[in-house]
Order: sequence, then C-alpha cells, then structure tokens
Amino acid sequence: MHQLRNKRILVGITGGIAAYKTAELVRELSKLGTEVQVVLTEGAKAFVTPMTLQALSGRTVRDSLLDPSAEAGMGHIELARWADRVLIAPASADSMARMAAGMANDLLTTLCLATESKVLLAPAMNQAMWADPATQRNLDELQKVKGDKLKVLMPASGEQACGDVGAGRMQEVSDLLKALADEFETKALTGKKVVITAGPTREPIDPVRYISNHSSGKMGYALAQAAMEAGAQVELVSGPVNLPKPDRINNHSVVSAQDMYDKVHELIDGADIFIATAAVADFRPETEASNKLKKVPGQDTMTLTMVKNPDILASVSNLENNRPNTVVGFAAETDQPLVYGRSKLEKKNLDFVVVNDVSRTDIGFNADHNEVTLLSSVDEKPIGPMSKTKLAEELISEIVKSIK
Ligand code: PMT
Repeated sequence: MHQLRNKRILVGITGGIAAYKTAELVRELSKLGTEVQVVLTEGAKAFVTPMTLQALSGRTVRDSLLDPSAEAGMGHIELARWADRVLIAPASADSMARMAAGMANDLLTTLCLATESKVLLAPAMNQAMWADPATQRNLDELQKVKGDKLKVLMPASGEQACGDVGAGRMQEVSDLLKALADEFETKALTGKKVVITAGPTREPIDPVRYISNHSSGKMGYALAQAAMEAGAQVELVSGPVNLPKPDRINNHSVVSAQDMYDKVHELIDGADIFIATAAVADFRPETEASNKLKKVPGQDTMTLTMVKNPDILASVSNLENNRPNTVVGFAAETDQPLVYGRSKLEKKNLDFVVVNDVSRTDIGFNADHNEVTLLSSVDEKPIGPMSKTKLAEELISEIVKSIK
C-alpha cells in the first residue's frame, strides 16, 4: 500500500449504512500517510458525524457548497483540482442518479463535475434498489459519459444490514484500499506503446479460396495480454483467428499480409516495442481472380504465379527515423532452428528472435503450449515448455530487462 503515501484522496460519503465502514477506511488511509479530505452529503450525516471523520482524517470535513468560511480556505474548484483521486463510498442510489443527470446540487456532485481526476464509485444499497432498472440505467449512463475517468467498484453479494440477501453490499475496506493503491501502481511498461502482430494472413486466390497457415493467434494474443498487464498501451494487429478480442487492448483486424503491413505502419509511430508473432505468408497469388476459378476439362494441373509479400518485420526494424527501441521477431523452423533463427536475427536487424520448432505438434502452431529459445546478439536462453500465457509473461519480462 506504499503507493498511497502522500497521495491526495477526496473521500465522498453519501447516505447509507455502509458509511460506518468508510470511517474505518479514512482511518487506514491516514495511517498510510495519505492526505484525506472527507466530503459529506446531508444524507451521510445521519450515519456518520463530521466530528468523527475530522478526528480520523485530521482535516475539517466539508459538507456545504454554500459555506463562505470553508470556501475562503479551499474553494470547491481548488478542492476538485487538489484530489489525485475521488472515492465515493458508499455511493447511494440517489447520488448515482444525480451524478448521472450531471446535477451539481450539493458539494459532492459539484466536485464530481469539476474534477479532472478519476472517480472511484463504490455503490452500496438494498439489493432491490441496486437491481432496479433505474439504478442500472444510471450506472450505464455514468460509465458511458465518464469513460475511463470512472471506475465502479461493484457491490458484493451477501446479507445486508436490512436483512435482505443479494448484491448491494459495499466492498470491504481492504478491497477499497487495494483499488485505490492499484490506481498509483507504475508497472514495468507503463507509458510504453507496444505493437504486436498475431495470427495467420490469408492470401486470396479467388472470391472463395485463399492460401493461409495453421497459426491460431494464441501466442500473439498471450503476448498482447502480458504487455497490457505490464502497463503498456497495446496495439494488436491480428489476422483472422477464432479468439475473443482481448479487453483493454486496441484490436485491429486485418486479412492479408499487405493489410497487416499497412496497419502496422499506420500504428508504428511512437512505438517503443514491436513484436512480430504473426505467421505472415511470404508469397501471395499474383492476381486474385474476380470470379470463382472453374475446373477446365482435360486439365489435371494448374499453375499459380506467386509474388513476394513485403516483410513487415524487416521493414519496421529498418525504419530510419521511428524504429522502435526493441524489435522482436519469431522464427518458425522445422530444421536447425537455432541456425536459421540466428540468421534471421542478423539479416532482419533484430534485438531478439524467439525460435520455435514447428515440426512438433505439441508446441508451436495452434497448441496451448510452446517451448522456445530466445536469441539476442549476446545470449541464447531456452524457455519452456510451458503454457503460451506463462511463456508470454516470461518473454515480456526479458524484454523489460533489456530495456532497463
Ligand atoms: O498462432 P499460434 O497458433 O499460437 O502459433 C504461434 C506461432 C508458431 C505462429 C509463433 O510462435 C511463430 O513462430 N510465429 C512466426 C511465424 C513465422 O511466420 O515465422 P517466419 O520464420 O516465417 O518469419 C520470421 C519473422 O518474420 C516472424 O516474426 C514473422 O512474423 C515475420 N514476417 C515474416 C514474413 C513477412 N512477410 N513479414 C513478417 O513480418
């Protein structure tokens, strides 16, 4: 919880029995060295007193927009700017409705409009009130209008103070503290942009046929997930796969190698890391027939003329002005993996090559596991066998080490 030391948290308390837990939260935050400013609504004062919260936070509690003496100290706009984060706990159905409507009829709702900081909302109410369509509509509306400036700490299920059982209990103090601490955690790739290619490409022959390969996208998607979890902004450029689009990642769907090349070059400016996991077709049919090709009577063979696709990885690695700091390629080999892998490292001017032996069916293409050797100009590190998820985390951690 060290992340919370010296941070400025505005804790808004609205009318609800869970307000007693917030008093405990304020106490814990103060112990951690967090600066806490409590703002109470009129409804909250029926459950907790300003005196208690002042004693716990060490600051005069604010409860009115129209108090000239308080405004003379730190006005509500200054207060809104002061906060690193605003936490509203408990957030009652009424306060959510007023916020969703954009009202500013008390100090807390006014601060929510005036602040540019993120607001964390911990709803708490009777389970029927929580389930009511009007409350759910207000929640949706708030999420829609506030976007990533709002984080909802969804209420838990269980026995409620009124005797009902269901969803509506405010999260526990320890969970609220963790959610606040997570807001200030800087991760290894925070502030970094990572572009990743994944999956196969499809090279059309005619409107119904194409040339492709067995890549499932699993390795590339696992890397995108690991990079996102390490704090990066991830741009995932994916060929056609049957995987769900990952959350909190910018997904870009492409079909052919040329599409993938174009999309990567549209996104590469400002990228710190480029990882080419995709199994890109080296060649494509020279022309795509506009109608479905027909069998020709008496003709037992057919010839397709293929032309070379652009090499996406080499093109990024050889960028003159905006080459990412770290460029990582994969090498899918069926014989002498390390020899061919090292040759790709040099020829394509890469920082790393991840070599996998795709002659095996238990790893590589379309498998859930992989076993690789990570090559750099100075090192050769075997990793695995392990799940692609775990392997992706290991690879991202190796890349992070090299950046440091
Ligand atoms: O998708 P999965 O089912 O999980 O399988 C994972 C994988 C086996 C596809 C993956 O681990 C892998 O090895 N990917 C690279 C496959 C490949 O095309 O390797 P290659 O040796 O042909 O190409 C070398 C590198 O150049 C690769 O990083 C490739 O993305 C890149 N390349 C190749 C050709 C091209 N025109 N443009 C490229 O960017």
